[in-house]
Amino acid sequence: MQNNSDIKNMKILAIESSCDETAAAVVENGRTVLSNVVVSQIAEHRQYGGVVPEIASRRHVEAINSVVEQALSDAGLALSGVDALAVTYAPGLIGALLVGVNFAKGLSYAAGLPLIPVHHLRSHIAANYITTPQLEPPFLCLVVSGGHSHIVAVDGYTKMRIIGKTRDDAAGEVFDKVARTIGMPYPGGVNLDKKAELGNDAAYPMPHPRLADAPYDFSFSGLKTAALNIIHNAQQRGEEVNAEDLSASYRRAVVSCLTENVLKAAHDFGYRKLVIAGGVSANSLLRRELARECGERGYELYMPELKYCGDNAAMVGAQAYYEYLSGNTAGLSLNAAATRSIELG
Ligand code: KG4
Ligand code: ZN
Repeated sequence: MQNNSDIKNMKILAIESSCDETAAAVVENGRTVLSNVVVSQIAEHRQYGGVVPEIASRRHVEAINSVVEQALSDAGLALSGVDALAVTYAPGLIGALLVGVNFAKGLSYAAGLPLIPVHHLRSHIAANYITTPQLEPPFLCLVVSGGHSHIVAVDGYTKMRIIGKTRDDAAGEVFDKVARTIGMPYPGGVNLDKKAELGNDAAYPMPHPRLADAPYDFSFSGLKTAALNIIHNAQQRGEEVNAEDLSASYRRAVVSCLTENVLKAAHDFGYRKLVIAGGVSANSLLRRELARECGERGYELYMPELKYCGDNAAMVGAQAYYEYLSGNTAGLSLNAAATRSIELG
């Protein structure tokens, strides 16, 4: 097995299967994407209004071989041209994760390549290393996805501390839930975002939940219930809500919770470099508001390119490079985990 210092241009073949995207990519030195293949199952899950875990696992099994082959061929490489393998092993849907983990273990054994286990949220953060090649820790990161909402102090590539997190639902989850109740197809977050661009964000008053004892934590379930009540009350009266106005009002409320807490954390902990990551970092209001607020404060702000906000394997290959440099490789005993803290990696 090669040692860290032997590899000059390290090419990592990365695999991601934590939810409803089967993805593989080849990334060089954590920054340069040589290929990036994503096969989405969204169309199939849409008819059920959300991801069906059993279906997700089956589709991963069907797709993974050709997705990996495509990633290698797009990069112009054979497996022998790759220096290491990386795989998302936690957190996520356990059955879905296991497909990627077992495939990567088999490949690692067969090809004699090192295997690098990557935490899904760490990889979302690393999407920024692809978009901004000069970006380096330390920085403060708002990680917002379908399953998580964290404020993370990234003090090194593999050194992370959770400053705040959601006490209940994740930001992506509540966007999806409200969008679905308004009648938008899964995944609702992006559709709600588009509708919101056309609406009046002051039309429906929304609460602004704050946790007195934990100023960096979030609580979105009350906000979600407030929006759902508006829809249900209107239905009971035989009226229709204005989808554009409700989307705009609700999006404004969620985004102001996110921006308020991350800006407070940046101020209190002395970070002047802010980063956003995860599926919800594609939200157009979140991007605009943070750009404005950071501009006013003289903070640097980094955001992933839209194609790297959602789940993909290029971000896994990016983080894997730094995990490898810090000595984080796994043997064939590697297992998937449905939950695991980003701090543990
Ligand atoms: O990171 P991600 O692709 O998967 C998880 O790791 O969960 O995040 C998916 C989440 C979904 O809830 C989706 O609705 C949300 O990100 N999302 C958005 C937008 N684009 C994706 N939420 C708000 N606005 C968007 N533009
Ligand atoms: Zn994700």
